Amino acid sequence: MNYHIALIPGDGIGPEIVAEARKVLDRIAEKYGHKFEYEELLLGGASIDATGVPLTDGTVAAAKKSDAVLMGSIGGDTTTSPWYKLAPELRPEAGLLKIRKELNLFANLRPAVLYDELKAACPLRDEIIGDGFDMLIMRELTGGLYFGERKTFEENGLTTAVDTLTYNENEIRRIAIRGFDVARKRRKKVTSVDKANVLDSSRLWRKVVQEVAADYPDVTLEHMLVDNCAMQLVKNPGQFDVILTENMFGDILSDEASMVTGSIGMLSSASLNDTKLGLYEPSHGSAPDIAGEGIANPIATILSAAMLLRYSLDLDQEADAVEAAVKQVLKEGYRTADIASEGCSPVGTVEMGDLIAERI
Ligand code: NAD
Ligand code: IPM
Ligand code: MN
Repeated sequence: MNYHIALIPGDGIGPEIVAEARKVLDRIAEKYGHKFEYEELLLGGASIDATGVPLTDGTVAAAKKSDAVLMGSIGGDTTTSPWYKLAPELRPEAGLLKIRKELNLFANLRPAVLYDELKAACPLRDEIIGDGFDMLIMRELTGGLYFGERKTFEENGLTTAVDTLTYNENEIRRIAIRGFDVARKRRKKVTSVDKANVLDSSRLWRKVVQEVAADYPDVTLEHMLVDNCAMQLVKNPGQFDVILTENMFGDILSDEASMVTGSIGMLSSASLNDTKLGLYEPSHGSAPDIAGEGIANPIATILSAAMLLRYSLDLDQEADAVEAAVKQVLKEGYRTADIASEGCSPVGTVEMGDLIAERI
């Protein structure tokens, strides 16, 4: 079959890691007889430099027409890059938020799995790791603090800033349904994470999630406060199956979950709507501190490409093949610097991509 894939290399390490994911997709095409046509699109800092804005209508239109979008990462060093002297709505991140909203990508799936081979890279003690863990963070992506009204103003001689956290029941219901649906195909447990002891939006979240749970008697639901969840993730990560949570909590908890898998360079993500179109990107950022050095871990992006094959193109066998190749390379001891441990074979970004592609 022919598929049209939009590629957004982005900024920092983005182009380096997207090149490796593309290499892996090309190998899949060759092996399974597909044709992937790529179209490169601008987003974030690269778009600002070329067009003056972080997201153009052209990028949105091309993304909407594609079968799926694969992205690297956007943004620069937020303390030194000139992009952060621009008005907030003209900065790289504004482009990412806008494309998520334009494509209605309300469901962000972030799987955090500890591969047996990476136990040595996990910062937790062996008795905490136990049999390992395999959780999925279902993060709401188009609501909450990220999209509420915000302003900075002068009041009583003081500069004051406001960000608003808003959710309506429909926004909560649709992400909760996604969480329960995916839990049904896994270990049938949903941990809904909120701050219902303080926030109205969390009290509504809990009520709606509870209502949705009634349609899933086979799935166990528990509620957990977000501060406790942050602690439980390092105390006993094995307890989690699906973590269902709002936008900002999901952002923070997914970085934490990624580190217990060994490195943020391992955590893939899929941002989905009600159609087959999705945007696939690693959970990490553009890592300006290591950009251009050829040492970034491309695995999160390669595993995001596997999610693209699975969710947007319905190519399960091909997705399995990518995931198996990643495991195989780790089993053989190859490691980028972020997941290195004693006795491993150190490799750079390009070599890691080559090794994975060769094993498909
Ligand atoms: P970051 O995730 O870019 O980097 C945090 C740390 O993790 C750095 O030390 C970095 O070197 C390391 N790291 C990240 N990815 C890695 C990889 N694949 N391999 C090896 N090491 C890796 O977070 P940050 O420094 O807070 O943010 C940098 C920029 O990225 C900011 O502009 C931020 O807004 C942006 N950002 C973008 C996305 C995205 O595009 N989805 C996500 C997060 C942050
Ligand atoms: C992520 C990133 C983004 C977010 C930023 C870059 C806007 O941190 O995808 O996790 O906060 O959603
Ligand atoms: Mn983040």
